Amino acid sequence: MRNPLSETIVQIEPSGIRKFFDIVSEMKDAISLGVGEPDFDTPWHIREEGIYSLEKGRTFYTSNAGLKELKQEICRYLYRRFDVSYNPDSEVMVTVGGSEAIDIALRAMCDPGDEVLIPQPSYVSYVPCTMLAGGKPVVIELEEKDNFKLTPEKLLEKITDKTKILVMPFPNNPTGAIMTKEDLAPIVDIIIKKDLFVISDEIYSELTYGTDHVTIAAFPEMKDRTILINGFSKSYAMTGWRLGYAAAPHRILEQMLKIHQFAIMCAPTTSQYAAVSALRDGDNDVQMMREAYDQRRRFVLHAFKEMGLDCFEPEGAFYAFPSIKRFGMTSDEFATRFLREEKVAVVPGTAFGASGEGFLRVSYAYSLKNLKEALGRMANFVKRLDEERK
Ligand SMILES: Cc1ncc(COP(=O)(O)O)c(C=O)c1O
Repeated sequence: MRNPLSETIVQIEPSGIRKFFDIVSEMKDAISLGVGEPDFDTPWHIREEGIYSLEKGRTFYTSNAGLKELKQEICRYLYRRFDVSYNPDSEVMVTVGGSEAIDIALRAMCDPGDEVLIPQPSYVSYVPCTMLAGGKPVVIELEEKDNFKLTPEKLLEKITDKTKILVMPFPNNPTGAIMTKEDLAPIVDIIIKKDLFVISDEIYSELTYGTDHVTIAAFPEMKDRTILINGFSKSYAMTGWRLGYAAAPHRILEQMLKIHQFAIMCAPTTSQYAAVSALRDGDNDVQMMREAYDQRRRFVLHAFKEMGLDCFEPEGAFYAFPSIKRFGMTSDEFATRFLREEKVAVVPGTAFGASGEGFLRVSYAYSLKNLKEALGRMANFVKRLDEERK
């Protein structure tokens, strides 16, 4: 029989995040600080709207681009929160999570050989989706000394004649880094000068602590060059509803819509009705969750300090990214031993790119009770490692 598989897909590694969770699920008394998912239930009024839509028998396909009512709410929200204005009829579409939006944006824009700049450490899907789209991923390695921000120097270093797209993964998973308006300004100048496009993954835009999120699409001339991606998973604790969206110039969006039409048809109908309620009446819920994450963030940073672990201060998302360089082991070795000896799962920084070596991703989207227990175990582990090294 001949090989049934595509060479491209065989080359792609499965996500490094899941490995540890299969072990955790079978380990008694194990605690996971690994999954990038809110621990809150979806706010009740949102669930109720979903239930009501089912009671009403709204169980049919919506239009491909999504419910008109939801697209209008998305545009109102983007204007109200981030000062960008989109036409609900031609510049926005509802997708199956931010995940689908990332995939179809890349597929709509890449021709073979087009280079896509991907700052890392960052979310696991950008590189594989670029490869599946026929593009060439080019990694920009972000560094702790720059607070894991994208600097103009780092960007310029990797631009060639073939560069077409820059992925902007901020607020960042796994580092928690954000890009302020001042950080973005010199990046914008380069994008315009070099005639690039941006896929801006803003899924954590509601989760910043201290500084409000700024979208790159709000800069003059940038709306025409940006595919803004966002969704409901993180801000409204709606991961399982599988709902996100993309806002983009019509000429790009209409091509993305074709892929969505043939591959997906439409995002889940129940979720779309529920999401209308999230955008209309969910501000207080978002605020409550943001405050809870912020409290946990400060708790985690304090615990790292107490145990002598260096950690860059995350200003967004719900992850901390402590350095374990001083123990002279790889991230994978540290995470594996930590899980085996203390039954706590964290993700090695290398799951998010080679530049994550020497770091761990610790999610603080867990209750303070769990965080206390897990970080207590971490303190024991760190103490033991220090003693071993004496
Ligand atoms: C940075 C980032 N982008 C996109 C996603 C995908 O989210 P979803 O497809 O649930 O909207 C995630 C999920 O972890 C993420 O961390």
